[in-house]
Amino acid sequence: MLEGQGGKQQRVQRVFRSIATRYDLLNTLMTFGLHRRWRRASIRLAGGMPEGGSGLDLGCGTGDFLHEMLVSSDNTAVVTGVDFTSEMLAVAQRRFATEIERGIVKLVLGDATDLSFLPDARFDMVTAGFTLRNLADLPRVLGETHRVMKPGGVLVSVEVCRPFRVWLRPLAELYLRFVVPAIATLVAGKIGEYRWLHESLATCPDRYELARMLEAAGYAEVRQVPFGLGVVVGHIARKPC
Ligand SMILES: C[S@@+](CC[C@H](N)C(=O)[O-])C[C@H]1O[C@@H](n2cnc3c(N)ncnc32)[C@H](O)[C@@H]1O
Repeated sequence: MLEGQGGKQQRVQRVFRSIATRYDLLNTLMTFGLHRRWRRASIRLAGGMPEGGSGLDLGCGTGDFLHEMLVSSDNTAVVTGVDFTSEMLAVAQRRFATEIERGIVKLVLGDATDLSFLPDARFDMVTAGFTLRNLADLPRVLGETHRVMKPGGVLVSVEVCRPFRVWLRPLAELYLRFVVPAIATLVAGKIGEYRWLHESLATCPDRYELARMLEAAGYAEVRQVPFGLGVVVGHIARKPC
């Protein structure tokens, strides 16, 4: 059954509220400990965060992409994370207590589909880690990321996608449909909450469509990097100067 945009958002929020304190452990188990490496590699392939640069992370959750942007800039960047699930942000708040005090990490409780509170041409890098799939009206969101990006800035997304290789698709289907919810149930005691991952794949754009959407939003030099046998894809796209 199709859900309205409001229903989808509420469901996404409910899922992440219920698993917030176990999210990092779940992510590590589900990706065999590779998810941090994928974010780091994507930022490196995008040319890295410039020294003293500014970054925005959509659906920052517990803050892994914020951390990678800081590391990439030798802790000279100023990074802002937006997330609409306060329980996920609370984990990030504890993690970055020192950086928040120093003013190099800012956390905003808000909806990543409404960036109207941000000025034009503000960021050198906008990241999204396993977030785009959850967002309503993706073409509009990508248009907004383009608006808030400085000319020459880069968008970096890491997202679960249908694998590049056709023969891997049934395996990925089995993994996402049965193994992932089973791990979530064992670790977080949340029966079926992670079914969302499998279900959201059915409605999210595939990598061709996502590349087209990025170009339609005004991005150029769109690159796709497969990770984890292609079940996860890094997207890198630049706003022309
Ligand atoms: C799968 S988690 C990813 C967390 C983090 N980006 C990472 O790389 O691990 C998705 C996050 O996006 C947030 N999210 C989903 N839709 C959102 C929206 N419309 N506005 C703000 N945050 C959203 C969820 O609350 C959740 O924290």
